[in-house]
Amino acid sequence: MASPAKAKARRAIPPVARRPSRAAALARPQLADPGRQAAIERAKLDWESTADALEALVCLLGQDGEITRTNRVVEDWSLGTVSGVLGKHAHTVVHPGCRNTRCSIAGFLKQSLGEIRRGTRGQFELQESIGARFLHMTIRPMRQRPGAESGPGDPRAVLVVTDLSALYRAQDALERLNSSLEERVRTRTQALADANRDLRNEIIRREQAEVALRGSRNELVALSEQLIGAQEGERKRIALELHDSVGQSLSAVKYTLERGMELLRQPRLGNPGAVFELAVRRIQETAESIRSISMNLRPKLLDDLGAASAVQWFCRDFAEIYPTLTIVTELSVNDGQVPGRLATVVYRSVQELLNNVAKHSSARHVVVKLSMDDNVLLLEVRDDGVGLEKATPESRRHGSGLRNLRERAQMTGGQFNIVQAPGRGTLAQLSWRLAEADRTVPQAARAAE
Ligand SMILES: Nc1ncnc2c1ncn2[C@@H]1O[C@H](COP(=O)(O)OP(=O)(O)OP(=O)(O)O)[C@@H](O)[C@H]1O
Ligand SMILES: [Mg+2]
Ligand SMILES: [Zn+2]
Repeated sequence: MASPAKAKARRAIPPVARRPSRAAALARPQLADPGRQAAIERAKLDWESTADALEALVCLLGQDGEITRTNRVVEDWSLGTVSGVLGKHAHTVVHPGCRNTRCSIAGFLKQSLGEIRRGTRGQFELQESIGARFLHMTIRPMRQRPGAESGPGDPRAVLVVTDLSALYRAQDALERLNSSLEERVRTRTQALADANRDLRNEIIRREQAEVALRGSRNELVALSEQLIGAQEGERKRIALELHDSVGQSLSAVKYTLERGMELLRQPRLGNPGAVFELAVRRIQETAESIRSISMNLRPKLLDDLGAASAVQWFCRDFAEIYPTLTIVTELSVNDGQVPGRLATVVYRSVQELLNNVAKHSSARHVVVKLSMDDNVLLLEVRDDGVGLEKATPESRRHGSGLRNLRERAQMTGGQFNIVQAPGRGTLAQLSWRLAEADRTVPQAARAAE
C-alpha cells in the first residue's frame, strides 16, 4: 500500500463557476411559506438520494467542523450511523480513536475551515491513509445565495472523502507487474546478449581456425614444392658430380692406361711402370670420390645400424677430408634410441652443419653431440669459428641449407635453432620430444625409411 506521506497534498484550486447547489439552498431554512417548505422537502429528498448513490463519503460541516449531514457511506465504512454521527466533529468520525494532537487530518480540517471562515474561496485537499484505507479528502465552502446571511448552525463546508485504496492497490499491482515484466525483459535481453556474444566469439574462433588452416595448407603446398625442388637439385648435383669427378677421373685413367700400353709397346719412349702407378692412384682417387658421393646420398650404415653409428662414421670420414678441423663426437645415445623416422633427418643435419662449419666458419674445433634427456632427443653442433655475425643477409638468403634444416625439423615435429655460441663461434641445435610410439618402433621398421 502507498505510504501515508505518498500523495499528501494540500492545494487550493480556483473555484469552478457553477449553479448554486441544492444543498446550499437546503442549508438555509427560510420563511414558513408552504410552497417554499415543500420545495425544501423535495430538495432534501433529492439530496439524500443523490448523496446516498455516491461511493464517496459526503459530509456537510458546520463552522467548527461538526457534521450536520452525511450520506450512507458513513455506515458502509462502519464509522457510525447516518443519524449517530450528526453533531460529532468530522475528525472523530473520519479518524476514529485518533489521539494524535498533531494529526494531519485534524490539522487539515481546522485549517480549511478557518480559511473558509475568513472567506477564502477554493478547494482544500488531502490524501492520507487511515488503517487499510487510502483516502482522498476535499473540502469546499458551501455556496450561498448572494446577500443571504448564514446562521450559526448552517453548514459551511462540504467534505468529500473518496476511498482510493482499490485504485492504489490496482496501481501497485500494475507497478509490480510492470517491474516484473521489466525484470523478465532485462533477463531475456541479457541472455540474448550473452548468446550473441558467444556466437560472435565462436565466429571469430572459426575464422581464425580457417585462416590458420589456409595458412598451413599453403605452407604444406610450398613445402612439397620445395621438397620436389630439393629432390631435383639433388639429382642434378649427383649427375654433375658423376660427370665432373667420376667421369673425368675415368677419362684420365683410360688415358693413363693407354699411355702405359703405348710405353709397353715402345719402351724407349719411357718407363711404363710409373705411368701404371699413376693410373692406380687415379683409380684409388676415383673410388674415393665415388665413396664420398655415395656417403652424401645415404650411407648403408644408416640402414644397417642406425643414426648414431652413421653419425659417428660420417664424422670420422669428415675429419679425414678436413685434417685442419678437429671433430669431437659426444654421442650418448645408441642406435636403438633414435627412432627410425628421425634417423635420416639426424644424419642429414650433421652433414649440413659440418659442411657449413667447413665452408663458412674457419673453425679449428667442432663438437658434435647427440643426447637424450627426459625423452627429448638433442643434436648439437658447436664450432669455435667466426660466428654467424659474419653471415650477410645476402648469404643467408642464397643458402638453402639452414632453411632445409628448419623445415625438416618442423616436418618431423622437432625444433631447430642456430645462435652465436657463447664466447666464439656458432651453436646449432635440433631437438625432438619423443612420443610413446617413437620408443616402441621395432628395428626392422627403420629399413623402410
Ligand atoms: N657454422 C657457421 N659459421 C659461420 N657462418 C655460418 C655457419 N653456418 C652458416 N653460416 C652462415 O649462414 C649462411 C647460410 O647458411 P646455409 O647453410 O643456409 O647456406 P650455405 O651454406 O651458404 O649454402 P647451402 O647450404 O645451400 O649450400 C651461410 O652462407 C653462412 O654465411
Ligand atoms: Mg650450408
Ligand atoms: Zn486524527
